[in-house]
Amino acid sequence: MYSLFFNLIFRRMDPEKAHHLAFRWIRLAARIPVLRTFAAAVLAPRYEELRVEALGRRMHGPFGLAAGFDKNAVAIDGMAMLGFDHVEIGTVTAEPQPGNPKKRLFRLVPDRALINRMGFNNDGSAAVAARLAARNPVFRTTLGVNIGKTKVVPEDRAIADYVSSTERLAAHADYLVVNVSSPNTPGLRNLQAVDHLRPLLSAVREAADRTVTGRRVPLLVKIAPDLADEDVDAVADLAVELDLDGIIATNTTIARESLGLVSDPALVQETGGLSGAPVKERSLEVLRRLYARVGDRVTLIGVGGIATAEDAWQRILAGATLVQGYSAFIYEGPFYARAIHKGLAARLRNSPYATLADAVGAEHRKVTSR
Ligand SMILES: Cc1cc2nc3c(=O)[nH]c(=O)nc-3n(C[C@H](O)[C@H](O)[C@H](O)COP(=O)(O)O)c2cc1C
Repeated sequence: MYSLFFNLIFRRMDPEKAHHLAFRWIRLAARIPVLRTFAAAVLAPRYEELRVEALGRRMHGPFGLAAGFDKNAVAIDGMAMLGFDHVEIGTVTAEPQPGNPKKRLFRLVPDRALINRMGFNNDGSAAVAARLAARNPVFRTTLGVNIGKTKVVPEDRAIADYVSSTERLAAHADYLVVNVSSPNTPGLRNLQAVDHLRPLLSAVREAADRTVTGRRVPLLVKIAPDLADEDVDAVADLAVELDLDGIIATNTTIARESLGLVSDPALVQETGGLSGAPVKERSLEVLRRLYARVGDRVTLIGVGGIATAEDAWQRILAGATLVQGYSAFIYEGPFYARAIHKGLAARLRNSPYATLADAVGAEHRKVTSR
């Protein structure tokens, strides 16, 4: 049904326009009490067995919406209505910015992938903080706030930029993510090098502790799939050293040739971050590597090419406590999150694990106990 709709309507539209149209419908539905209650009953059913405790929160399920879909925190209830148990807003930068010139979002339909070079178009952390402060949540959800660097701010002033967003946003966040992995802000990914990352994460931690009293806001870092294995290990070690709460693996990739893409070569060559099915293998590999290094000491969030419940289950077995998706939502439609949670519940029931927490990293334990 959705694929017919996708092919008839969305596929003919410019991808960014289609995004805004779908987004408007979601926001509208979430404002109509009868409609949103009905939609949530259908699309966001709860499964007792999928309850999970992570990042100091009790959640109804492990699957959430990855950053970039709701950059400005305007549709949190709408996304919860669609069954995403946690919603990560952003990336938000300290200053408002328009992002890159359009066209900047491309669909690679045969590859079930997207390429984007949005460039952190967002309203800025002051406006987003004001929106979150005024918010009256309808659905109980976990809110992640993802922050990044303002484009015009030079790299040597990056820390101050992240700190000012932290001061404005940390109080509203159930968890805070330092994004150093988007390919569309020049120089941003250099911040993944531990020499840059250590002072950055320490400063954000300090700013969050200074501005939020009475609780410790969990702090995570989001990394790229393009990091060399040694650099993944270095980030893992740094996360343990700094007592970081989590790592999100991964963002989009700049790789192309190695991925065997079948879409129109002109599209494939578009500059930007590639997401969806082609990034799945490397995202899973990075996650496995992280789990082998940090085990249960750091919460891992798996993201990148998760389209089915089986994909999500594989991520959990590989060490992810939570999982997220974005690109497959465009292709799968409104039943996407429901299908993932439903399929995960079935897999857990048919597995040897009593709880979801028992399944986290089970694949690694199996390998190491051989
Ligand atoms: C159009 C688009 C915009 C994105 N914007 C952001 C962003 O602002 N911040 C961020 O951390 N990740 C962003 N991402 C990356 C996603 O959060 C996710 O890490 C990545 O797409 C891999 O997951 P997927 O294959 O399920 O899409 C964006 C992805 C897409 C497709």
